[in-house]
Amino acid sequence: MSVQQEINRVLNAFQKISIQDFVQISNFHETSGFYNHEEEDKIGIKGHFITSPEISSLFGIALFNQFFNKNPGIKKVHLLELGPGNGYLTYDIIEQMNNNGIEILSTTFLEKSSYFTKQLQKFNKLPNFSIISDINDFSIEDEFIVFIYSNEFLDAFGHKQYIYKNNKFSEIFITKEKNRYLLSALSSIPSDYIKKDFEFIVFKENDILEHSSLIDFFIQNLHSKINKFFFTTNDYGYSRKSSLRALREHKKINLFESFEGVDYSFSVDFSRLKKLFYPHNSEIVSQSDFIKKYTSSFFNNSTDVKNKIIKDLLTGSEDGQMGLVFKNFNVKNYE
Ligand SMILES: C[S@@+](CC[C@H](N)C(=O)[O-])C[C@H]1O[C@@H](n2cnc3c(N)ncnc32)[C@H](O)[C@@H]1O
Repeated sequence: MSVQQEINRVLNAFQKISIQDFVQISNFHETSGFYNHEEEDKIGIKGHFITSPEISSLFGIALFNQFFNKNPGIKKVHLLELGPGNGYLTYDIIEQMNNNGIEILSTTFLEKSSYFTKQLQKFNKLPNFSIISDINDFSIEDEFIVFIYSNEFLDAFGHKQYIYKNNKFSEIFITKEKNRYLLSALSSIPSDYIKKDFEFIVFKENDILEHSSLIDFFIQNLHSKINKFFFTTNDYGYSRKSSLRALREHKKINLFESFEGVDYSFSVDFSRLKKLFYPHNSEIVSQSDFIKKYTSSFFNNSTDVKNKIIKDLLTGSEDGQMGLVFKNFNVKNYE
């Protein structure tokens, strides 16, 4: 069954589908969802989009240096990468761990794409290696520290969208009329609940609130499964507008232009993440500051043209560069 057939099936049954469910089906339908269907390349120059770890090892070096800076003298660690895709980030992290004499007790990938799970078999020879598709399958004794890292992981989770009008929220659904797909704001029962949950934010007329209950549950599960963690992630930061993006072969496309082979993503609400990790002290910095801080020797010493291109891509603030739109969020839950 294609993604469009599956969406139509839901629309026929319920006359509407939430943006969250639409994106979950589009991204993760068992056979035809973007992350599951078979193709030569998904991420990278020949794929649909490129990510920081695919651009340069510098990104992994920065994540490692951040971890080391926040955990001076650490000798042993368990690694858990969330949504590794092709897995390049973990290659870089392992190399840095080895160079700095830190023993890796186990390496786990949380990856639910069947396509990427096959690509990741190349890691099979690592000692104590596993791939899980559900965080509830991760198990670790309480005394061990787990380094949990990810890049562009949470942006692939489906989010609901609400629009603020006349002092209340309505949920935006996808509907279909006379063979045309439409976005419709329908009055939403949880409006008061949403207002309360986001009470510190002043909403203006027509602001869009994006919220993923899937992320809320995921972080709750993470807390219940892992006692001691350093968690760090980089992603697009969100600002009260619709951030839903549809990408196909490196091009932005309109929402209903195509249903197959489209990567949907959202920006990540880092202030919500802060709340989900409360009372632990978390930090949000721009990717630009993050890379510059944790790879400063590279930036000071390099005059190479190729390195300048990498630096501009990862830290620049122009269109298509990742320095300001991307943020780093990190939190440590132990002393
Ligand atoms: C945008 S890709 C990023 C891949 C890689 N981290 C990178 O930066 O190149 C998102 C990755 O997260 C995975 N993913 C998304 N939601 C997931 C979930 N709920 N559980 C496990 N993996 C998930 C996808 O399959 C994909 O590998």
